[in-house]
Amino acid sequence: MKPTFKSNLTTSIDQFVADAINDIKKRSNGKPVLCALSGGVDSAVCAVMAQKAVGDKLTCIFVDTGFMRKGEGDFVEKLFKETHSINLIRVNAEARYLKKLKGVTEPEKKRKIIGEEFIRIFEEEAKKLGEVGYFMQGTIYPDVSESGHDGHKNVKSHHNVGGLPDIIDFKGILEPLRSLYKEEVRACAVALGLPKEFAFRQPFPGPGLAVRVLGELTKEKCDIVREADAIFTSELEAAGLSEQAKQYFAMLPNVSSVGVRNSARVYEQAIVLRAVHTTDFVSASVVPLPYEFLAKVVNRITTEVKGVNRVVYDLTPKPSGTIEWE
Ligand code: XMP
Repeated sequence: MKPTFKSNLTTSIDQFVADAINDIKKRSNGKPVLCALSGGVDSAVCAVMAQKAVGDKLTCIFVDTGFMRKGEGDFVEKLFKETHSINLIRVNAEARYLKKLKGVTEPEKKRKIIGEEFIRIFEEEAKKLGEVGYFMQGTIYPDVSESGHDGHKNVKSHHNVGGLPDIIDFKGILEPLRSLYKEEVRACAVALGLPKEFAFRQPFPGPGLAVRVLGELTKEKCDIVREADAIFTSELEAAGLSEQAKQYFAMLPNVSSVGVRNSARVYEQAIVLRAVHTTDFVSASVVPLPYEFLAKVVNRITTEVKGVNRVVYDLTPKPSGTIEWE
């Protein structure tokens, strides 16, 4: 199968997958492999390839940072443990992350802390497993280029690139997707037999809701954005409108404003809704959602999500905005 999208590949997808599996086998050389499984397509492809390469020498570690979408932690655990029989350890690290990020408001600093904590948790889990082996992660080409590596200008530090500390207590790092664009990774997922609905899931940033809550992160703010996001995305999907959007989500700009509820003055958070269409994520246009649909979502969020009195729809294309607020 030859990819029809922008590509760095010199071989077919099937050949790439076969070569990557061989390479993992060769490089890990009988040592254990730890794979960072986030629930996204990148790390899922890594995990399935590693399982084919090293079998039961693979252990996947899923760090539930507390910055996942509603129900996502349980979904990921079930999918990989039950459906794919992958050896998965789930680390519930929400309290640990919130403690580390207390008082931190600067976005790049948040990303660095999240990235470093990821690695520390992996080191701890690796020690528990005994023999030190290789660490595998789903870094892809745009992560590398946007983080200012390989001669590119820094746009933002991806948690799995810019956030890596210098001293890592593993034999080495395996990043089999480092040369691929997202669409190539999705093609690998299909080639590896992962379900299509999973292979074509909308992207979700590695640091998760941490980049969708501006300012200091608290559990309360994350819970608010999680609930608002679940309402927006489920309504969009139910209305058949999600087909038009490549990415759609809610974010919390950390702006409180005066409102009125039950004839009393309230001072509560605002929520921003975003739905964009894009082919390459370098530029994006806004999906013109129907007014009636938006009005219904606004009504649901302001009545069902405690602490939200205002909802706005972001009409900014990329450029000048980015897809995520951060
Ligand atoms: P922006 O916000 O720069 O994002 O327009 C472009 C695309 O990248 C996603 N994104 C990330 N993906 N780790 C990821 O794996 C990250 O840290 C990250 N930050 C942004 C974003 O959701 C959009 O699809």
